[in-house]
Amino acid sequence: MIGQTDLFNYPLILAERVARAVLHRIDPEQARDLALIALRARLTPRRAAPTSDRLRTTVAGINLLNPVGLAAGFDKNAIAIAPLLKSGFGFIEVGTVTPHAQSGNPKPRLFRLAEDRAAINRFGFSNDGAAVIARRLAARPATGVVGLNIGPNRDSRDRVADFTDLLKTCGAKVNFVTVNVSSPNTEKLRDLQGAESLARLLDSVLTARDGLGDKRPGIFLKVSPDLTDADIRNIAAVARNARIDAVIATNTTLRRDGLSSRHATEAGGLSGAPLRTTATRILAKFYGELKGDVPLIGVGGIATAQDALDRIRAGAQAIQIYTALIYDGITGAVRIAEKLDSLLAKEGFQNVSEAVGNRP
Ligand SMILES: Cc1cc2nc3c(=O)[nH]c(=O)nc-3n(C[C@H](O)[C@H](O)[C@H](O)COP(=O)(O)O)c2cc1C
Repeated sequence: MIGQTDLFNYPLILAERVARAVLHRIDPEQARDLALIALRARLTPRRAAPTSDRLRTTVAGINLLNPVGLAAGFDKNAIAIAPLLKSGFGFIEVGTVTPHAQSGNPKPRLFRLAEDRAAINRFGFSNDGAAVIARRLAARPATGVVGLNIGPNRDSRDRVADFTDLLKTCGAKVNFVTVNVSSPNTEKLRDLQGAESLARLLDSVLTARDGLGDKRPGIFLKVSPDLTDADIRNIAAVARNARIDAVIATNTTLRRDGLSSRHATEAGGLSGAPLRTTATRILAKFYGELKGDVPLIGVGGIATAQDALDRIRAGAQAIQIYTALIYDGITGAVRIAEKLDSLLAKEGFQNVSEAVGNRP
């Protein structure tokens, strides 16, 4: 059935389909920039976040209308917060932001692997820097859940100080801050996942966060899919001891198994469908270690409501998507959330929280 909002949006939905066909013929980074321009110009369908008693949930004390979020890296510079909050997501994450602006790696640095429903990127944290992004965050709409993903500058001499500076500049303006120690495109960043360095980093980050008083955001930690079981045990122990608010699993992978696209050998992080199994496995292992003590957000290769439900049943309280939007358009969020509602009902769940870790 077509509702009133859909009727109003129908020309925009059609236009989005045409635009997507065009966008897939041009350079993927330009296509992403055009998609952001279209969002800001209100040329994309606007939809309230789908919600219901089943979809409404809470992660780390943050209330969400639905558990389908936008993953970091799409709106790196926080230029489209308001329109993204009107695109059906239960929450969005912007960034990665670094203290100082940086241009990132030379272009091309984003590749579509259409045959594999995947992407490879090696942006290397290109962004406008904390001061500019803090101003944009200050102008964000008062309602809607917004997170900020933070990372160090490429040439940083003190990476821990970069994270704490970012918290001080931007932390009070968002609902959560994601500590990114898992991007494969900044040299040695992933070394910060080692138990000792991670414990030190989180300790400093949490102290900086607590300095923000009433406006302190949740602290989330985003991890890599390329972790051993021992790594997962160590990271889970550090996360629990530090009492961070959530773990986001996972970022992109360096693995390249079973790809058929011609861009398969490009350097960078792989995302999308080929990441699904690994990201689910890593999330499930974190769930096994943490047993609900620290909430989990699942990301990596989620493209359908069934994928979302599978990830929730593997232990995620909420999920995020990015690469699927490249192939299905920004309206993918609404489709996944609405279908998730009916899937949850079909499986007999009164609320999404009942499905968390409840494997069939
Ligand atoms: C083009 C692109 C840029 C990304 N940039 C970031 C980033 O800046 N920070 C980050 O934490 N993750 C970044 N990611 C990773 C995503 O947030 C997500 O963790 C990953 O792509 C897996 O989800 P997906 O398979 O739904 O895309 C990026 C992903 C893509 C495809």
